[in-house]
Amino acid sequence: MKELLYCDFLWSGINFHPNRFSCCCTPYKGIFVEGNNIKDYLYDFFLSFEKKRTEAIEKMKKSIPIKDCIGCVHLKKYDMDSDETPDYIINNYNKNLINHIQINHFKHCDCGCIYCNQPLYKKTIYSKQSEYYDLLPLIKKLYDKKMVNINHLEVEFQGGSISVLDEFPNIVDFILENGVKSIQYFTNGLVYLPEIEKAIKRTNCLIICSIDSSTPETFLKIKRVNKFYDVINNVKKYQSIIDIYNSESHNSTITLKFILVDGVNDNLKELEGFIKIAENLKVFSCHLDLDYRMIMKDTQSIRYDIPKHYKDLYDFFMTKTREVGIIPWMPEYTKQILDKGYFDV
Ligand SMILES: C[S@@+](CC[C@H](N)C(=O)[O-])C[C@H]1O[C@@H](n2cnc3c(N)ncnc32)[C@H](O)[C@@H]1O
Ligand code: SF4
Ligand code: SF4
Repeated sequence: MKELLYCDFLWSGINFHPNRFSCCCTPYKGIFVEGNNIKDYLYDFFLSFEKKRTEAIEKMKKSIPIKDCIGCVHLKKYDMDSDETPDYIINNYNKNLINHIQINHFKHCDCGCIYCNQPLYKKTIYSKQSEYYDLLPLIKKLYDKKMVNINHLEVEFQGGSISVLDEFPNIVDFILENGVKSIQYFTNGLVYLPEIEKAIKRTNCLIICSIDSSTPETFLKIKRVNKFYDVINNVKKYQSIIDIYNSESHNSTITLKFILVDGVNDNLKELEGFIKIAENLKVFSCHLDLDYRMIMKDTQSIRYDIPKHYKDLYDFFMTKTREVGIIPWMPEYTKQILDKGYFDV
């Protein structure tokens, strides 16, 4: 029996953060390289990152976890000789190709969500941060050196807000021209982005927009910008393009998110209104999540008890969305916290 430990992102992903590259889908774990001078030595940093990642993979092949990964829900054990081991793991075993690129290396935004989990997001308009680096030259290099697996490549824009990312249009054009399997856009939806429209027309596109509300009043309290109807109209416009361009060769979807914020939107009326909006907009799925900033404060000493009615909100969310033909989703780790009823470290 040949056992190995596997985390898809560690084996085949790269996540760009300010001053840092990592191969973990969470911000501060896994293998990484970092430095204030990363923008001046982009490719050198990348090479040393690659070296560290390869060493970590070699350890995982011997079933030895790296320290940060112990206990992580994404870390799974497989037997390479078993028929049940998925093909993509067997295919990845001897390759270090990149299947996931996550773009998170900028922190400026035109919105001011009260829950935003980036410590620098404190004001409505953010100045550009010094740790920002130009990513497109490195992405071009990865393609030139055939280090990306274009048949499987997923590119995910997080942020900051992509509407204020200077390189955004050029990165989208480049990956559409040179091969990508899907593009995932996290957007606050305040501004209509022609680059999203372009991608809907040409590839598989996932648009994720957190509206967290059902009225302009609640939207303003949470997002701290008075643009509820702009967002609704932009989502409507993306959905109408999707309806025209989805075909057998590609499929794009919109997910609306609702983050439960203590005492602001964590009630049945707001959640019901949100699902109604999703139904009217005919989006594909809805995503419910907890406010991680709230539950993770003072994690060193404090256990955070999830309000008792959250389980009812979750049950309602699952039932109601399905009833109206929308796919409901909640991350596995959030479900585990809800089931347990509290969060601690
Ligand atoms: C940091 S944002 C960046 C992308 C984009 N600006 C947006 O808002 O979609 C990425 C995702 O993290 C989620 N997020 C931010 N802060 C959060 C928190 N405290 N708890 C749960 N999710 C959060 C947002 O809803 C969003 O879907
Ligand atoms: S196993 Fe978990 S902590 Fe480790 S790289 Fe994967 S997602 Fe990150
Ligand atoms: S839109 Fe995204 S990046 Fe901007 S404040 Fe909200 S969660 Fe943060």
